Amino acid sequence: MGEGSSHGTGMSGMGPGLPAGVCLRGFFVSLRIEPSFAETARGRSPAGYTPAEERAMRLAIRLARRGIGTTHPNPRVGAVVLRGRETIASGYHQRAGEAHAEARALQLAGSRARGATLVVTLEPCAHHGRTPPCVDAILGAGIARVAIGMRDPNPRVDGRGIERLRREGVDVEVGLLEEECRSLNPAYLKQLRCGLPWVTLKAMLSLDGRMASESGESRGLGGDAEQRLCHRIRAEHDAVLVGVGTVLVDDPLLTVRLARGRTPLRVVLDSALRTPHRSRLLESVGEGPVVIATVSRDAARGRSLEERGAAVWRFDPAPDGRVPLRPLLERLVADGRYALLVEGGAATHTSFLREGLVDRIAIGIAPLILGGTNSPTLAGDLGRVRLAEGIALESLRARRVGRDVWLEGRVSGDGARHV
Ligand SMILES: NC(=O)c1ccc[n+]([C@@H]2O[C@H](COP(=O)([O-])OP(=O)(O)OC[C@H]3O[C@@H](n4cnc5c(N)ncnc54)[C@H](OP(=O)(O)O)[C@@H]3O)[C@@H](O)[C@H]2O)c1
Repeated sequence: MGEGSSHGTGMSGMGPGLPAGVCLRGFFVSLRIEPSFAETARGRSPAGYTPAEERAMRLAIRLARRGIGTTHPNPRVGAVVLRGRETIASGYHQRAGEAHAEARALQLAGSRARGATLVVTLEPCAHHGRTPPCVDAILGAGIARVAIGMRDPNPRVDGRGIERLRREGVDVEVGLLEEECRSLNPAYLKQLRCGLPWVTLKAMLSLDGRMASESGESRGLGGDAEQRLCHRIRAEHDAVLVGVGTVLVDDPLLTVRLARGRTPLRVVLDSALRTPHRSRLLESVGEGPVVIATVSRDAARGRSLEERGAAVWRFDPAPDGRVPLRPLLERLVADGRYALLVEGGAATHTSFLREGLVDRIAIGIAPLILGGTNSPTLAGDLGRVRLAEGIALESLRARRVGRDVWLEGRVSGDGARHV
């Protein structure tokens, strides 16, 4: 079975071989009741994979997740070398510049890889990057069959790995647990698709939906467990962003202190360069870079912030006179920052949601009612008046985090493309 015929055979939700959320069960079944005799004789599913290959892919996906927070700007990838039903070796990509998952697994498998199957979440590369092409390692090891989760849309790969393996006589199948493999790398895939980072909007709210008290306080709204979770989430992103309002009120560090991992690039939306010299952000530039995104042409003020160690990124003003978000996001991608965490406050959330730039929302809810008439809520005017125009979330997950409740979901469909 070729690549085209196995595309879209993600298994989530509807049983083996059926794409999630597609109600063409009869159609698909009728397409697949006639697998070739050879395939059934070798114990393969109608989609062309053995149960052992599917299990190996699940393992490869779990391994790939270990690279969250360390592989960027590279994708997270896992690989397993399989002989019959036996797992011979496995590996995952740990860090950009280090061995790719396939190379790691093949190295561990050694001579036992000859004639075996390689199961890998993403198409192997065929070009020289910081490491040699994985396709060479696969061919050199004598692998007979490769089961790939998804084709790599990176223009440097984009089918070349698959093509080269097939040309050299390797049996290649593409699309095993494709949806799960795709969900390993939302940021990598989004920036390739549209040149924008994957944006997660994160906030801590009171039970009545307030981001801060009437007096503007929000630090301490989340409990200890929530704080640790926030730092872990930060470490999984390439950049974290706040508005200057939050810098002026909260004076946050935005570093990773309560979790393992590195501090992402810290970005402030600051049209008029109001970020104080004595802010903790600027006092901690040694712990990670700080970018002040501005539309100000005040050269002296810009220079003084640069002397404090910040980078000042200047943009032409948006129609409302503030920092234009799309050009800023494009610049972040150009800087290799594919996963952006937006940490408030309300005005910042409002701009991102109005412009339809949010992909995922992560909200903590504290068991505390703040009330108030001026205390900010998650977002202000989104230009939506009717219930049906609300920004909906899908794939919602809710759980308890210490004393708080944590909700995460993806912005669905055209999400905020309304304005
Ligand atoms: N609970 C939480 O999770 C949480 C998180 C963060 C903050 N907070 C709370 O939120 C409050 C601060 O929120 P806030 O709404 O006043 O301020 P904010 O969103 O932090 O900052 C807004 C400011 O950013 C600047 N900005 C520049 N370009 C912008 C753009 N395109 N869109 C939006 N803003 C842009 C604007 O000031 P200039 O025009 O001068 O640049 C704007 O006034 C504080 O009370 C803080 O404690 C709570």
